[in-house]
Amino acid sequence: MPLGERLRAEGLHPSLVAAALTQSRLRGKAHAKLGDFADGMLFTAAGLEQATRLEVGAHHARRYRDAGLTHVADLTCGIGADALAFAGVGLRVTAAELDEMTAAIATVNLRHFPEVEVRHTDGLSLDLTGVDGVYADPARRTGGGSRVHDPASYSPPLDAVLAVRERVPALGLKLGPGIAHRDLPDDARAQWVSVDGDVVELGLWFGPLAPEGPGRSALVLRGGQPHVLAPVEVAHAHVGAIGAYLYEPDGAVIRAGLVGDVALDVRGRLVDPTIAYVTSDELQATPFATAYRVLDRMPFGLKRLRTYLRERGVGRLTIKKRGTAVVPEQLRRQLDLRGDATATIVLTRVAGHQSVLVVEPVGDELAGTSAPGGS
Ligand SMILES: C[S@@+](CC[C@H](N)C(=O)[O-])C[C@H]1O[C@@H](n2cnc3c(N)ncnc32)[C@H](O)[C@@H]1O
Repeated sequence: MPLGERLRAEGLHPSLVAAALTQSRLRGKAHAKLGDFADGMLFTAAGLEQATRLEVGAHHARRYRDAGLTHVADLTCGIGADALAFAGVGLRVTAAELDEMTAAIATVNLRHFPEVEVRHTDGLSLDLTGVDGVYADPARRTGGGSRVHDPASYSPPLDAVLAVRERVPALGLKLGPGIAHRDLPDDARAQWVSVDGDVVELGLWFGPLAPEGPGRSALVLRGGQPHVLAPVEVAHAHVGAIGAYLYEPDGAVIRAGLVGDVALDVRGRLVDPTIAYVTSDELQATPFATAYRVLDRMPFGLKRLRTYLRERGVGRLTIKKRGTAVVPEQLRRQLDLRGDATATIVLTRVAGHQSVLVVEPVGDELAGTSAPGGS
């Protein structure tokens, strides 16, 4: 008998059974973000969706600890994932949450840390006396769950949170990675973060939380290892011919505008000044890009590509693209693939011409090679 039915048959109220099953399902999901901590926590679906992964929260927390701060105000604590990371490195935390139910859940989730106080209040109204660091992760969704893109419509609004640094210079913010560079304040260290290839956030760090000074960087977390890429001012990547290898930069690197720096990192060049692909004659281990061996290249043309793939019996095709209007699924239908072989193609512009590169992932060949650009 399904668990829900059994619990109801044992006399538990249906609403209690439904709530317990929801928590059980959310805990299962939360493992991906919070590991075993999830087993002792409560969630709402929206709260979990917005919660910071513990691995990333730990990086946030280290900035406060390394700056020698002791008491952090988390203005928008949600279900408390960031606050958990702050408490985990020994910081005192005053956490505010506007939504009553979410504040109650954060109180439960942080119950093991006596140095954390959760308040059901507007974070902007917190008394910051004695607080030496502030953190905010404004809500970027409407009540209905759709994403808000205008920073003035975040809750609380971005400008109101940024103004807090006039009172407490050690301010840190978590924002969506898609925010335009022009909307970012000049005095921020802006760090785009990816976890195993997914871009998860943009962190803005001010004052003592940005010992590296204002500017842009990417924090690439792969297999639990952190790698930071920051711009090198002394050299610029040039654009040049396709070499033996193609590199697809990590999304955090692209968002941070550091594709040229990846080109320098792999002793390569850009495929095009406006396209986020790098090419090199050398195979270089890098955490900042995925490497492919270039097997073939040709100008883009449906007939020619179809013949090429037919001759090789390619039935399963991975299509990657940048800088072209081709719709992969439409192209796949038009190619009418048949056969057991697999292939990967990259559709892009090379020297101003729509081109096809036939590539294969390098993968294991780089295992064991030490990656440059450490943490
Ligand atoms: C993105 S979530 C925070 C997630 C949190 N950092 C975590 O890791 O669990 C934003 C939260 O801010 C809350 N919020 C929005 N406006 C607020 C305000 N003015 N004061 C306090 N909380 C607010 C929302 O209810 C939501 O729970």
